[in-house]
Amino acid sequence: MTTARFDPSGPLQGRFTPPSDKSISHRAAIVAAMAREPVTITDYLTGEDTLSTLAAMEALGAEVRRDGDRVVVRGVGLRGPDARGATIDVGNAGTLMRLLPGWLAGQEGRSYRFDGDDSIRRRPVDRIADPLRTMGAEIDATDGRLPPFVVRGTALTGVEYRLPVASAQVKSCVLLAGLVADGATTVVEPVASRDHTERMLARLGAPLRRDGDRITVDRVDELHAQDLHVPADLSSAAFPIVAAVLVPGSHVVLDDVNVNWTRAGILSVLDRMGATVVGEREARRDGAVPTDEPAATLEIRAGELRATTVEADEVPLVIDELPLVALLGAFAEGETVVRGAEELRHKETDRIATVVEGLSALGADIEATADGFVVRGSGGLRGGTIHAHGDHRLAMLGAVAGLASRDGVDVVGMEAAEVSYPRFGDDVARLLRG
Ligand code: S3P
Repeated sequence: MTTARFDPSGPLQGRFTPPSDKSISHRAAIVAAMAREPVTITDYLTGEDTLSTLAAMEALGAEVRRDGDRVVVRGVGLRGPDARGATIDVGNAGTLMRLLPGWLAGQEGRSYRFDGDDSIRRRPVDRIADPLRTMGAEIDATDGRLPPFVVRGTALTGVEYRLPVASAQVKSCVLLAGLVADGATTVVEPVASRDHTERMLARLGAPLRRDGDRITVDRVDELHAQDLHVPADLSSAAFPIVAAVLVPGSHVVLDDVNVNWTRAGILSVLDRMGATVVGEREARRDGAVPTDEPAATLEIRAGELRATTVEADEVPLVIDELPLVALLGAFAEGETVVRGAEELRHKETDRIATVVEGLSALGADIEATADGFVVRGSGGLRGGTIHAHGDHRLAMLGAVAGLASRDGVDVVGMEAAEVSYPRFGDDVARLLRG
C-alpha cells in the first residue's frame, strides 16, 4: 500500500483535459460489443475499472484492439455473447457488475459466472437480480445477494419496473435486458439519474423512448455500429475543481468536461455555495432522448463559500461528488447538510461512514446521519492522516483536503485512485507547478 503526502499548497494554476468519463466508457465498451460491425471509441478511459470491462467483452467473444485511449471493438451481436465457462472478472467495477447481467440474462442456453475483488464481493446484486427475475431471469448469488454469482440465460419477457431507489446502474441493466426480451420493457424512475445508457442506445438506433419519468425499450435484432467519443469525467474533474475552489488564488481551466445535466449536480451545488465555476451547462431536458453527450470548458477560481443543503431529488445528480461536498462544507460559512443519500452506504465503501471518519480525523466538524451527513464550517481543516480503504474517491478526497489544509495530509492507500483517475498525481503536480 502506498502512502502519499499532500502538503498545503500555493495557488493552483493550469489548463488540461481531465480523464475520460468512467460511466460512459463502461457503456461504450458494452454497447460496442453488442454491435456486429467494428466500433471505434476515442478517448476511452484506461483506468482499472474500464480495463476490466474491455477484458470482460473479450471474455464474451468480442475482439478488442487498444492503442492508448483509442479502442476498436468488433462485437458479437446482441445474441452472440458466450463466455464458454470462463468466469467474468469485474475487478472493482460495480458498474460493470450491475450492467452486464442485463444483456446476458436473455441469452438462452448459456450461463455466465461473475466474480470480482474483495470490495466487490461485499456489494449487493439483489437490486438487479430482483427486476431481472421478474423478466424471467435465473440468477444464483452467494447468500442470495452477493458475488460471486451465476446468470443462467433464459427467454425474457418485457415488464414495467418501478425503481425503488434512483439508480442509473439498475435502470441501465433493465434497459439492456429489454433489448433482448420479448415485448416492451419500461423503467419508471423516482427521480432522474444519469442517462448515458439511454443516449448511447438511442445513438446506435435502439427503439428507445422517454415519456416523463418512463423510459421504454423494445426488443431489437441489431444495433447499428456508430463511432463513440468519451468526454472527460466531471466526477474526476471535480477533484481539481474543488481543489481550485479551496486553495486561495487558484485559477484552473478544464477542457472537454461532460456536462450532461443528469451528472452535473456538483456544478449547481458549487453555484449555491458561491464558488466561481464558469462554463456552458446543458439545459435540463425532459423530452426526447438526446443522442449526444454535451461537453464544455470550465474555468474555476478560488473564493469564499457559504453552506448549502442537498436534498434527496438532487442526490442522484451529484452522488459520486458528495464526499467533496462534505469537504467543501468544512470550508464554508454555516452548516452544510446532505439528506436522502442512503445509497452512499452501498458504494466502493460505505461512504457516509468513511467520509465522516476520514474528514473528522483531519479536523472537520462532521456528523453522520442515517441518510447523509451534517458539516459545520470551521474555517478550514487542520490535516492529518486519512485511509482510502481501497476507495478511489476517498483517496483523492484526502489529496484535495491536504492541498487545502493547514498542516498537510497523508493518504494511506493512494494507489486506489488508479481505478478512475490514472494520472491523478501528475495532474496535481502540474497544477502545483502552475
Ligand atoms: C454509475 C451510477 C451510480 C454511480 C456509480 C456509477 C453508473 O451508481 O454512483 O459510480 O455508471 O451508472 P447508482 O446508479 O447505482 O447509484
